[in-house]
Amino acid sequence: MIRVEGLSHRFGAFEVLRDVWFHVPRGEIFGFIGPNGAGKTTTIRMMVTLLEPDDGRILIDGIDVVERPAEVRRLIGFMPDSFGVYERVTVTEYLEFFAAAHGVHLGARARTVKAVMDLTELGQIRDKLVSDMSKGMKQRLAIARTLLHDPQVLVLDEPANGLDPRARIEMRQLIEELQRLGKTIVLSSHILTELSDMVTSVVILERGRVLANGLVGEIGRQLRPDRGARIRLLHAPENCEEVFRSVPGVLEIERSGNDLAIGYSGGDEVIAALVAKAVGAGLSVTRVEPEQNDLERIFLEVTRGELQ
Ligand SMILES: Nc1ncnc2c1ncn2[C@@H]1O[C@H](COP(=O)(O)OP(=O)(O)OP(=O)(O)O)[C@@H](O)[C@H]1O
Ligand SMILES: [Mg+2]
Repeated sequence: MIRVEGLSHRFGAFEVLRDVWFHVPRGEIFGFIGPNGAGKTTTIRMMVTLLEPDDGRILIDGIDVVERPAEVRRLIGFMPDSFGVYERVTVTEYLEFFAAAHGVHLGARARTVKAVMDLTELGQIRDKLVSDMSKGMKQRLAIARTLLHDPQVLVLDEPANGLDPRARIEMRQLIEELQRLGKTIVLSSHILTELSDMVTSVVILERGRVLANGLVGEIGRQLRPDRGARIRLLHAPENCEEVFRSVPGVLEIERSGNDLAIGYSGGDEVIAALVAKAVGAGLSVTRVEPEQNDLERIFLEVTRGELQ
């Protein structure tokens, strides 16, 4: 549904994006992740026709954003990373204004606004002033606004930013509901784990380059191929860790008491071989614990997160 091909851009002498490629399949919830200044908002502004790339191209449903921007705008709902300033109006007035701006004609406007308010559960607070709403509710209203022209693609810049855990769960439920309605959704964040339970695949950007690209479950291994496991022995004789060194894939072993922390590269077959080796050497294994593929830690390791 979205193809980003060889995107590059400079602001003056500063190269903000360099040869960025990724592809978002139709109907997917896709995470666009990177530390502050990585180039997420710049890429998003190009997707939604607010900025033209120096090089490369973006296709939305096969349509080039530079060549046919008006058609692309009809296909895309865009939520910027800041809310804007129409605060002395009610929820209904706010949505009616933007429905008009999107060209929803007067006869259909009330119906469209009601449908969007039902979907985003804003109906109960339809007469509340926008200025009196919580951050979570404003975020919901900002998403509602992107839905008024019934776009196929939603591009939400930092939608979970500043939300408390409950508001985040509600946001996730809304986004999943939108996916069920057939929308393709791109979410950006500077924190991988903020989105890892919402998205199916991600692109990780750092300093304008793609660092990793793929399914959330596989991205940890792509970023850091080495894994770890902890093995506990009932009795740990002197130098028993040497037994394990010959197992293919083992990189390092650290022993503390009856626990061995083993770093290895490869899949679960390495763990199976470690256990078989222990049994063969007469060692009793009481516990085997694969190290959690802790996305947050890996992400922090690979993106230095220096301000750019
Ligand atoms: N109009 C501009 N002129 C000059 N430099 C810019 C402009 N817009 C962005 N930049 C620079 O480009 C880099 C990428 O900015 P961008 O806003 O795309 O990052 P981001 O990944 O969205 O970061 P954040 O997580 O902070 O939102 C930053 O170094 C930023 O200072
Ligand atoms: Mg940004």
